[in-house]
Amino acid sequence: MQLRVGGDLDLDAVIALYRSSTLGERRPVDDRDRMATMLAEADLVVTAWQAEELVGIARCLTDGVWVTYVCDLAVDATHQRRGIGLALLRRVRAETPRAKLHLHAAPSAEPYYPHIGMRRHEQSWWLDPEDAL
Ligand SMILES: CC(C)(COP(=O)(O)OP(=O)(O)OC[C@H]1O[C@@H](n2cnc3c(N)ncnc32)[C@H](O)[C@@H]1OP(=O)(O)O)[C@@H](O)C(=O)NCCC(=O)NCCS
Repeated sequence: MQLRVGGDLDLDAVIALYRSSTLGERRPVDDRDRMATMLAEADLVVTAWQAEELVGIARCLTDGVWVTYVCDLAVDATHQRRGIGLALLRRVRAETPRAKLHLHAAPSAEPYYPHIGMRRHEQSWWLDPEDAL
């Protein structure tokens, strides 16, 4: 398995990975323009490759020195539980070593993050675009 840094990726392969990991159930994979923007405007994208097959992605927003928000972490279902998710997060951390990693867990991944050493933050809040403010 090889890791690469950079968001210049084939959009169809990325969308296929979101679908095959199940993350696509909670991301706008049917809206190509939105997915293309999500990829193009990310500050840090780390991908995992098995030969020339895209098998994992960590898509992040970061200022590089204080916070790195891991927007999407996805590993192809047939390649899960082989250390790829952890390798992606370790590389994200190596790219922004001074920044805290933040993320929002998918329900099925909730036990994953404490298992790999991340701490829960009880004072974390969010607002969806349609929510009143
Ligand atoms: C969650 C996900 C990214 C984990 O990636 P992965 O490559 O399968 O996980 P790893 O192989 O790095 O796992 C590292 C360790 O965590 C464990 N682990 C993996 N998935 C887990 C889960 N869902 N719950 C609890 N532990 C889990 C592994 O068994 C392994 O444990 P070990 O080191 O003691 O053997 C991947 O399963 C995935 O893409 N899931 C679907 C999409 C998703 O939910 N993404 C997260 C959005 S926040």
